[in-house]
Amino acid sequence: MTSRSSRSTRGRRLIAAGLALSGLLLTACGDQEMPQNTLDPQGPIARKLDDLIDPVFVVAGVIFVLVQALTLIFALKYRRRSEDDQPVQVHGNPKLELAWTVVPAIILAVVSVLTLSVLADINREAKGDDVLTVEVIGHQWWWEYKYPEEGVVTANELHIPIDRDVNIRLTSEDVVHSFWPPKLAGKIDAIPDRINHMTVRAEKPGVYLGQCAEFCGLSHADMRLRVVAHEAGDWARWVAANTATPRVPEGEGDAAIGATLFRQKGCASCHSVAGYAKGDVGPDLSHLMQRDVFAGAIFEMSHENLRTWLRDPPGEKPGSLMPNLNLTEDEITKLIAYLDTLK
Ligand code: CUA
Repeated sequence: MTSRSSRSTRGRRLIAAGLALSGLLLTACGDQEMPQNTLDPQGPIARKLDDLIDPVFVVAGVIFVLVQALTLIFALKYRRRSEDDQPVQVHGNPKLELAWTVVPAIILAVVSVLTLSVLADINREAKGDDVLTVEVIGHQWWWEYKYPEEGVVTANELHIPIDRDVNIRLTSEDVVHSFWPPKLAGKIDAIPDRINHMTVRAEKPGVYLGQCAEFCGLSHADMRLRVVAHEAGDWARWVAANTATPRVPEGEGDAAIGATLFRQKGCASCHSVAGYAKGDVGPDLSHLMQRDVFAGAIFEMSHENLRTWLRDPPGEKPGSLMPNLNLTEDEITKLIAYLDTLK
C-alpha cells in the first residue's frame, strides 16, 4: 500500500469516527423530555429570546461553514507539493483587506442592533394594574419568594397566574446567584443590596423547571427552582391556602409533641411558621405542605424524603446552613407529624 492511499484510508476512518461521534452526541438532542430547553419557549418573553437566537444562529452558522470550508479548500489547494515549492509572494491587497474588515463590521452591527432592541424590550419593568409583583431572594442554596400584595412567603416553587406579567424584583441575601427558568425567561443575576428586574409570563398552566445559573458555592447544583403556572381560579385558591394561619396542634399526639420539639431543637429560631415561630434564616414553613419540593427543590415532598433530610441536612446538601441536629428516629417522626399539619 502506498503512503498516499494509507493516508486517505486514515482520513476516511477519521471522518467516519467524527460522524459516529456527532451522531451519538446529537441523539442526546432527540425527543426525550427536555424540561430546561431554551429553544422551547412557553411564554412571550422566552419567545422573544428564541426569536433572537434563530437569526443570530443562522448568521453564525453560515459564517462557520464558510470559514471551515475555505480553510479546508485552501489547505488542500495550496499545500506544499515538493521540497522547493514556494508560495507566490504578495505584499498586501487593499481591496481584500478592506472587505474583510467592513463585511464583519456590518454583520456585527446588524446582530448588535437585533440584540440591543430585544434586551431593551425584555428588561423593561412590567407595569400596570394586572401586574403581579414578586420579590425573589437568592440564598445559599434555595430561593425565597415574597408576594407583598398577597401576603404570601414561600420557597423554591414560584407560583404565578397564567397570562399575567409577573414583575420579579430579584436580589440576594449572600452571594451572587442567577435566576433562570429557561422556558419562561432568560437569566438575571441576583445581587446582594441591589434589585434587578425581570418579567416572567406563562401562557399555559404547568410546571416549568429552572435552576441557579451562577456558581454560588458548594451546593450551587442543588439550587434548583420551579415555576408553577395556574389558571386564575387555581391561582386564587393557592393564594388563599398560603395566607391562612396554620392551627398549632394541641393534646398528646405526635403532631403536638413535634410542635414542642420544633421549638426545643432550635428549628423555630431559623424558620418562621405564621403564629408560632419567627426565624428568618431558613425558608418560611407556614404552608410547607402546599409545596411539591423542598431543600432547594432537590427533594420531592414526602415523609420518606423529609426523614432523609432531617437525619443529616449537610450530608444531603453540602454546606447547608441547616445543621445536623442528631435527631433520633422518634424525634424525626414527631417533627414530621407536626410539619404535616402545615398545610
Ligand atoms: Cu445560587 Cu448558584
